[in-house]
Amino acid sequence: MCGIVGYVGPRDSQDILVAGLARLEYRGYDSAGIAVIDEGGSLAVRKRSGKLARLREALDTDPIGRGTTGIGHTRWATHGGPTDQNAHPHLADGDRLAVIHNGIIENFSELRKELQAEGVEFLSDTDTEVAAQLIGRAYRETGDLVAAFRAVVNRLDGAFTLLATHEDHPGLVVGARRNSPLVIGLGEGETFLGSDVAAFVEHTRHALAVGQDEIVAIRPGQVEVTDFSGNAVEPQPFEVSWDAAAADKGGWSSFMAKEVSEEPEAVANTVRGRIHDGEIRVPELDGLDDFFRGIDRIVVLACGTAYYSGLVGKYALEKWARIPVDVELAHEFRYREPIVSASTLVVSISQSGETMDTLMAVKEAARLGAKTLSICNTQGSTIPRESDAVVYTHAGPEVAVASTKAFVAQITALYLLALHVGRVRGALPADVSAEASEQLGALPEKIQWILDNEQERTEQLAHWMADTRSVLFLGRHVGYPIALEGALKLKEISYIHAEGFAAGELKHGPIALIEPGQPVFVVVPSPRGSITMHQKVVSNIEEIRARGARIIAIAEQGDSAVLPSADEVLRIPLASPLFEPILAVVPLHIFAMGLATAKGLDVDQPRNLAKSVTVE
Ligand code: F6R
Repeated sequence: MCGIVGYVGPRDSQDILVAGLARLEYRGYDSAGIAVIDEGGSLAVRKRSGKLARLREALDTDPIGRGTTGIGHTRWATHGGPTDQNAHPHLADGDRLAVIHNGIIENFSELRKELQAEGVEFLSDTDTEVAAQLIGRAYRETGDLVAAFRAVVNRLDGAFTLLATHEDHPGLVVGARRNSPLVIGLGEGETFLGSDVAAFVEHTRHALAVGQDEIVAIRPGQVEVTDFSGNAVEPQPFEVSWDAAAADKGGWSSFMAKEVSEEPEAVANTVRGRIHDGEIRVPELDGLDDFFRGIDRIVVLACGTAYYSGLVGKYALEKWARIPVDVELAHEFRYREPIVSASTLVVSISQSGETMDTLMAVKEAARLGAKTLSICNTQGSTIPRESDAVVYTHAGPEVAVASTKAFVAQITALYLLALHVGRVRGALPADVSAEASEQLGALPEKIQWILDNEQERTEQLAHWMADTRSVLFLGRHVGYPIALEGALKLKEISYIHAEGFAAGELKHGPIALIEPGQPVFVVVPSPRGSITMHQKVVSNIEEIRARGARIIAIAEQGDSAVLPSADEVLRIPLASPLFEPILAVVPLHIFAMGLATAKGLDVDQPRNLAKSVTVE
């Protein structure tokens, strides 16, 4: 939530900041603003509620003079509604200091009272303005911006990335982070700060990670990092593995459309280099063999779509590695005195690597003595850095708020983990491993088949259903989490009521929702897997059809048993049962996108949401 960018260097900072914000807008789009120290040495600020386009308009009508130092912010509102006043930057020290912030300062109310008692008047409802005023007050005492940061950050509770620039110090931007992301970009004679590397990847792929509770001062081509006590710290360098073109729309109507089209590649890139002669070996897990042999339980932690990938992963981990697995919503795990031990492997799943709920749950698991492994899509992000090991999904940057290609890559990575751990523990027969490797290798082509052959029909169906008010999704076994994912995607971007159920649960209550015309998507298991399971789902279809439901079945090619009972059948290629979810979800992603598009909605930036949820 909230995108942050900072720049010092020889180029005009306004263009660089606005371009950086455009790439970060997926993090929040309630308002946007920039502060630049212009050539005359004055601090110029422009900020507007609404999307970045409104800030651009404001800059067109009232341009800022050339300046080479600046900060920019795109907001997902927490304290205070999305108004011009609440937009960042916030000013202090006689409007000579500008501050932007991502996160929530939990003790802001008492700090605000303290400042009000001294006569400070606040112009906004934000917690950020409190931080700005505190930094301004501390700066007035010493004239040292870094020292002022150090004095203030130690008084703040909660989560924050703060960036500031002061008229007295052109060529300097100071930042600090606690429980909220910040990375540094190193250019030729210029330096960047960003909530993530997307902020500066078009200028440089050389980056440094800023650690927890650290303060960073950037000058053109220079970086100084200290901890909150002022001790020097050596930041960890890394190279960004993708370029700016990967984060562009590249001719697609939306980022989501582009990212769904990249699902085959996301799976292929995640598998690449991890299959050797029919065996799965994940090089990042080398050295953990003894630990894997000794674990007695796996706990998977994640939120939203990533949580659903964990629910799918449970089937594979239990089948191939023969270890009991619990999958938990990260925010529920942390507050219920969870039981984990040194023989528990805690696997977190996160596209962004910044989700606060997941990060806090990982920290809690580590505190309780568990070993932590992160499945993550974003290099340099916090969760992998806080974990003992990481398996990256190589889905490439995901910009649309609704997660699609990262989801199929997350399931793929969980399968790789299950096969790797199963092999190490001697639980995986060679023929099962060889068959699974082959199935994994074949997935990209099969997903492509769905995109080539079923996309148009699925979009057409979505178009016809544009006035639908409620859609239900049913699945069984690995199809159940896919039903949940189908429902989440639809609510998230088309604002239609949608629910996912386990097909077997229907008769225990949800069947009461069925009335004539109610659309129900059913993820049908392969008849070549468990014939009983297939028959049971076909019986479920009959039960709801008898009550007037309109059935849209997602079934494998050649499954003729569903034809008489379904109104529509969307086909997926043949795959072993455990691999079906990675295929069955593709039409559901296309459907949600098609329906939101038919309703004229912004599929990339749905209302009230943000891509990276960095507040609890
Ligand atoms: C849904 C969606 C969210 C995220 C969730 C976790 O389309 O994108 O439900 O999956 O907020 O985010 P990450 O994976 O970044 O931890």
